[in-house]
Amino acid sequence: MRCLVTGGSGFIGSHVVDKLRDRGIEVRVFDLVMPTFRKDVEYYQGSLLDLQTVKMAMSGIDAVFHLAAVADVKDVFEQPHYSEQINVRGTINVLEAARTTGRVRRVVYGSTTWVYSDAPFDQVDEDTPLGAPSHLYTATKMAGEYYCQSYGRLYDVDTTIVRYGIPYGPRARDGAVVPIFVGKALRGEALTIAGDGEQFRKFVYVEDLAVGNVLALKSVGRNRIYNLDGAEKVTIKQIAETVAKIVGNVTIERVEARPGDFGGKEVSSVRAKEELGWEPTTRFEEGVRRYIEWYKERERLRQEGWASVDELFKKEREVWA
Ligand SMILES: NC(=O)c1ccc[n+]([C@@H]2O[C@H](COP(=O)([O-])OP(=O)(O)OC[C@H]3O[C@@H](n4cnc5c(N)ncnc54)[C@H](O)[C@@H]3O)[C@@H](O)[C@H]2O)c1
Repeated sequence: MRCLVTGGSGFIGSHVVDKLRDRGIEVRVFDLVMPTFRKDVEYYQGSLLDLQTVKMAMSGIDAVFHLAAVADVKDVFEQPHYSEQINVRGTINVLEAARTTGRVRRVVYGSTTWVYSDAPFDQVDEDTPLGAPSHLYTATKMAGEYYCQSYGRLYDVDTTIVRYGIPYGPRARDGAVVPIFVGKALRGEALTIAGDGEQFRKFVYVEDLAVGNVLALKSVGRNRIYNLDGAEKVTIKQIAETVAKIVGNVTIERVEARPGDFGGKEVSSVRAKEELGWEPTTRFEEGVRRYIEWYKERERLRQEGWASVDELFKKEREVWA
């Protein structure tokens, strides 16, 4: 079996590649950026926006994990037109390539639990009707989901939609809450908590998430939607305390609550457990510990003068393999 991972050089995609390779599955990465974090994968460089290139990248492929996207909501906000092209047109190109190549048996689409943001319920699962999206990022990801469903119904292209919770772990981009707290703690800066810090989120450790992606290929997952969210509720206060406990000698400061801080929704991942046998197994503290180890190693390599991210990832692979 050979899989194509679009966005396989990115944060989540790179871990999906790792988990596929762990199972001996051949992998081809389709990305704008080279996957320097490991050598035992094929690489097809190209953009999702070029249908012919996507079709060529899909030659000889049995299943596709489509994760390439403008994934940072801040980038989507700043570049709405570009992001819409990548996330929406890019997704239809992947589906169209899968339809016309004729060999692909499944397209697994990396979506997000953000699709529930505008649903008027606090507890949500895959059957919850979605509200009209307020954020453009959510709109693009929902459009991708709808295209998957239409391609399934109209052209028998089998898809599986996996809605990710908030991932954290090695290779995460620096702008998310865990990386920000870790960076500050390691620089000796205080961690700030808005209000009482009791706003909770569920976080999913990226390797657990990657395993869920691979399990989504099971035949039961054909034309199904699965939430892949973390198991533990973690408050902002707990994140700060966990980071402080691991790093040591860290001050936690409180600032005034920001208006409209979102309390979080309860996303059920019961379907993924029952049908795919997926459950996140990494406890938050353990995941943060592994992230901090990776972060420190990256900083050490930077100080040693590793000039580019590519070089860093290469070195990182040697250290972590
Ligand atoms: N990170 C999160 O918080 C999060 C949460 C839920 C869902 N998701 C979804 O998961 C997927 C992966 O997210 P991530 O955090 O790994 O993102 P990432 O930014 O780390 O990786 C995305 C990858 O896509 C590639 N890419 C971008 N435009 C491309 C194009 N035109 N052609 C080919 N490749 C292109 C990038 O080079 C990058 O390697 C996305 O679909 C995202 O919407 C992410």
